[in-house]
Amino acid sequence: MTAQPHGGALINRVMPTEDVQNWSEVVTSLPSLTVGRRVFLDLDLIAVGAFSPLAGFMTSQDYRSVVDTMHLASGLPWSLPITLAVSSEVADGLKEGTTVVLRDSDGNDRALLELHEKFTYDKAHEAQMVYRTEDTSHPGVRALNEQGDVLLGGPIWLLTPPTLGPFPEFPASPMLARAAFAARGWKTIVGFQTRNPVHRAHEYIQKCAMEIVEGLFLHPLVGETKEDDVPADVRMQCYQVLLENYYPANRVLLGTFPARMRYAGPREAIFHALVRKNYGCTHFIVGRDHAGVGNFYGTYAAQEIFSEFDRDKLGITPLFFEHSFFCKTCGSMASTKTCPHGAESHVILSGTAVRTMLRAGQTPPPEFSRPEVARVLITAMQGAPVAS
Ligand code: ADX
Repeated sequence: MTAQPHGGALINRVMPTEDVQNWSEVVTSLPSLTVGRRVFLDLDLIAVGAFSPLAGFMTSQDYRSVVDTMHLASGLPWSLPITLAVSSEVADGLKEGTTVVLRDSDGNDRALLELHEKFTYDKAHEAQMVYRTEDTSHPGVRALNEQGDVLLGGPIWLLTPPTLGPFPEFPASPMLARAAFAARGWKTIVGFQTRNPVHRAHEYIQKCAMEIVEGLFLHPLVGETKEDDVPADVRMQCYQVLLENYYPANRVLLGTFPARMRYAGPREAIFHALVRKNYGCTHFIVGRDHAGVGNFYGTYAAQEIFSEFDRDKLGITPLFFEHSFFCKTCGSMASTKTCPHGAESHVILSGTAVRTMLRAGQTPPPEFSRPEVARVLITAMQGAPVAS
């Protein structure tokens, strides 16, 4: 048995075709709202059950409970608000208790929102609680400040099939991932969240975890990352060459997680774990500064936060890893837990240093990155604009 979905059942809010036909007659008479790409990322993920037990955007009770206690009003753990923000002017034109059509920027009807509630919220409070800072240089805080002042809450229905990102050959929904795990006969699966190309340290912690479970679900986030992160299509090429050359094919599944990064560090680690539970994972890797950005979070804050939760209610086992690196004296990958040598023996490169090397066409040392991965990155990144 793979993990039970969070809350016990996988949510499916993709409207059956026959119902879409019925709705198509009334849709034109309903109030409508044009929403952007970020909202659609959440909509698709809600619809396919990746955010189970959520069946829509949070109403005030869940929103406040999540922000203040990291649990839904029902008592289930949930660490990030999933909300639909609009301006006060837009909200004024919408009535609670009505069904609102959500349109994309091309004017296509994409989803219905049963508008149960519209409510105002305190952005500074959310920033402080969720991101632990109100500093606008934090990308998550910036996005929060830029969004509208009113939240629309209620269940949704997707009228069109979910897009789920530009990589249809890799499972992007919980149902597809679960089917793939079942086909392989895996019962214990470790999920690996990443927004970066997989370097040796990532490979090391994945393989340590693979020693104790039956399968690895390599589950890169491909929805939206900040500008200086490596683009998803380049990363997908990196993952493929890495898996082809260094992993047993029958032990790894490459999927995609078409969500956006919030860079909420500890809170996002909990969210990432719960979502991977919905995809069917029984274990989840949390290494150093998971989902962090800049120096906003302590190196192991994303591990420490797990002690604030009832493990049975989380329903997925976190696997914690220390900062890992190649040690030249050990002659192997290691971490401070397993290596007695000093920093002079350790091959540790910052993301910025690696990007500078790659842009100059230089291959990072094989102790840091597999040469096949470095080649993909060099080809892609030469000539790319220099990140701030
Ligand atoms: S993240 O934003 O998705 O967390 P990244 O793709 O770099 O960023 O990390 C993926 C996972 O690997 C996270 O759990 C992170 O904590 C872990 N990780 C990254 N680098 C290291 C490292 N050198 N040592 C240990 N864990 C690491």
